[in-house]
Amino acid sequence: MTTVRVVVGGAVFDRGRLLAARRSAPPELAGRWELPGGKLEPGESARQALVRELREELGVEVEPLARIDGEWPLKPPYVLHVWTARLLAGEVRPLQDHDELRWLTPDRVDEVDWLEADRPAVAAAARLLTAG
Ligand code: CDP
Repeated sequence: MTTVRVVVGGAVFDRGRLLAARRSAPPELAGRWELPGGKLEPGESARQALVRELREELGVEVEPLARIDGEWPLKPPYVLHVWTARLLAGEVRPLQDHDELRWLTPDRVDEVDWLEADRPAVAAAARLLTAG
């Protein structure tokens, strides 16, 4: 039996909006939108991985807040976990893996073509933003 490996995605909130990131690679995912993040490295917690990935990919510091309930299958052995996170410092820039970033108000999250695995978490994040 293979142990599942976690990919953590961040539902990054700032001023009532959710961050969406458009992937530039690999070719089969390029052009699709995701909650930015990546694979946990050995020994890392999900919170640590999220902070590291968003620093590397977007040049910002975030504070992970809470995990969104659920776990979504990716290419085995990976599964997606999503955490809400608050932007602490910096301005997001697509430093690696992405070619466009957008801040979406909760009523507009459906305007981009999310990766399948992200959709339930995006809907949950939009509900959290709407609830304020
Ligand atoms: O950067 P790293 O190699 O750690 O991970 P990644 O390439 O960002 O994510 C690994 C895989 O997880 C991707 O190939 C996507 O298929 C998937 N993924 C996803 O579906 N939704 C996300 N929000 C993040 C990753």
